[in-house]
Amino acid sequence: MKKIILSVLLFLLAGAAAVAGFGYYLVDDKSATGISDKLSASDQISKGAYLVKAGNCMGCHTVKGEAAFAGGRLLQTEFGHFKTPNITPDVKTGIGSWTAEDFWQALHNGKSRGGRMLYPSFPYTNYTQVSRNDADAMYAYLMSLPKVEKANQPHELRFPYDQRALLAFWRAAYFRPTSYQEDKSKSVEWNRGAYLVNGLGHCSACHSSRNGLGANAGVSDLSGGELTGWYAPALTNSKEVSLAKWPAQELVALLKSGVNQHTAVSGPMAEVVAGSTQHLSDADINSMVAYLQAIPTVQAAEKDMFDQAMAGPELSAENMGSVMKQGAALYKTHCMDCHGAQGEGVANVYPALRSTPALLGQVVSNPVRMVLSGGFPPVTSANPRPYGMPPFAHTLNDSEVALVLSYTRNAWGNKAAVLTSAEVNRYRTAVND
Ligand code: HEC
Ligand code: HEC
Ligand code: HEC
Repeated sequence: MKKIILSVLLFLLAGAAAVAGFGYYLVDDKSATGISDKLSASDQISKGAYLVKAGNCMGCHTVKGEAAFAGGRLLQTEFGHFKTPNITPDVKTGIGSWTAEDFWQALHNGKSRGGRMLYPSFPYTNYTQVSRNDADAMYAYLMSLPKVEKANQPHELRFPYDQRALLAFWRAAYFRPTSYQEDKSKSVEWNRGAYLVNGLGHCSACHSSRNGLGANAGVSDLSGGELTGWYAPALTNSKEVSLAKWPAQELVALLKSGVNQHTAVSGPMAEVVAGSTQHLSDADINSMVAYLQAIPTVQAAEKDMFDQAMAGPELSAENMGSVMKQGAALYKTHCMDCHGAQGEGVANVYPALRSTPALLGQVVSNPVRMVLSGGFPPVTSANPRPYGMPPFAHTLNDSEVALVLSYTRNAWGNKAAVLTSAEVNRYRTAVND
């Protein structure tokens, strides 16, 4: 029954979208003519290698420990599982028979060779901004790699998302091929940053929320988004992470090494740093930072709807006192050695828990997950042996995890809603997946 309602809804929506966007979705953008850079073949390949890192193509197109770019990695989404394709130059199973034009069509128009529409789990809604010259260099690099014969596996998507033809409607509603438009009123550095953050860097693919059909509000929207089991915080919001307020060198350090004076990246963001940002030149990182810090911070309303929904239980002063007392005892036993008596952490080693947006946000999936499963910041050339956090799933029960996190969220001047053991339990099941 749910399925039927869902598909009827989808068709209605798609119909509306088709009317709204009619005339666009049949037209591919062929405006870029592909005037190639005058680079030697080997310069073209090394330029491409660099850009492929900027796009973190390897991250999705590689199964850990197996041949690079040969595909097969499982991407879990609310629509089902995607299995990434082989993009090595093998003719039979990879993209060996593709031309540079075909490759450009994939990045820019979200279409496979022969015109098959691609799912936006391949973030072409961002990559569409990549210039034709850059796409050609990336193509040259991929074509220079060893051929790996590995057949693509079908995705395992739920109905109706398994109907590729419906992507026509999706594209009509949510996708326009666009080239990066330089903003002449801004500096060269800002423009380079915008091109990288919104295009190859695809930060918005995770850091912005998606609607029920998997579309987000646009490449420059960084207002926070939920992934399966993780939350990519808003980067421009006073209640979450507000990058405009960070010292620039702290953001540079985080993108280069995965750790800084106050925090460390983990999970999907650790993959981004390990596979992509740590490899970027200082000039490009500085440009991205300049662009990110120039996005105005949204001053979140004190009591918005989201807030009320996530506010957690209201506790009497007496109950709160008891939570703090029990939480403090757990903290002292299990956490203090690393995170410090005042939650001050150790710069570049153990993240601070005092005034840490990662800990204080309304969406608690990351801290709960961190305590249950532990984690490591990425291994980077700037931080080759990161210190990790041990898992507590077997040491602490749900209510103890709730207590210790409620304590850290309200100690040392922190202030955030307390957690319930039910909330912890929800993520415990997710973590065990
Ligand atoms: C977030 C994960 C993700 C990232 C990052 C990613 N891809 Fe993909 N890519 C996919 C998925 C999933 C598909 C399959 C989409 C489909 O079947 O419709 C895909 C499809 C493709 C295809 C089409 C292959 C075919 O046989 O039709 C090409 C080419 C491609 N990606 C190249 C790239 C390049 C180049 C980059 C880096 C700039 C990249 N991808 C980054 C997930 C990703
Ligand atoms: C694959 C999904 C994904 C992509 C792509 C991604 N992020 Fe993240 N990001 C996350 C998640 C999840 C977190 C929360 C975990 C953490 O704090 O490390 C995060 C956290 C962050 C943080 C806050 C770290 C902290 O501890 O306060 C910053 C800053 C950040 N991302 C910047 C970026 C930038 C810049 C880009 C684009 C170059 C980007 N992210 C791309 C998933 C992603
Ligand atoms: C052995 C040292 C160690 C212990 C003990 C430890 N942690 Fe951690 N903690 C870390 C490290 C290292 C990280 C960064 C991990 C990463 O980036 O994946 C971290 C990350 C975190 C984060 C995420 C912070 C951020 O900025 O992203 C939270 C929340 C946290 N720990 C809470 C706790 C709590 C609560 C306890 C006790 C139950 C605890 N930790 C015990 C080392 C430790």
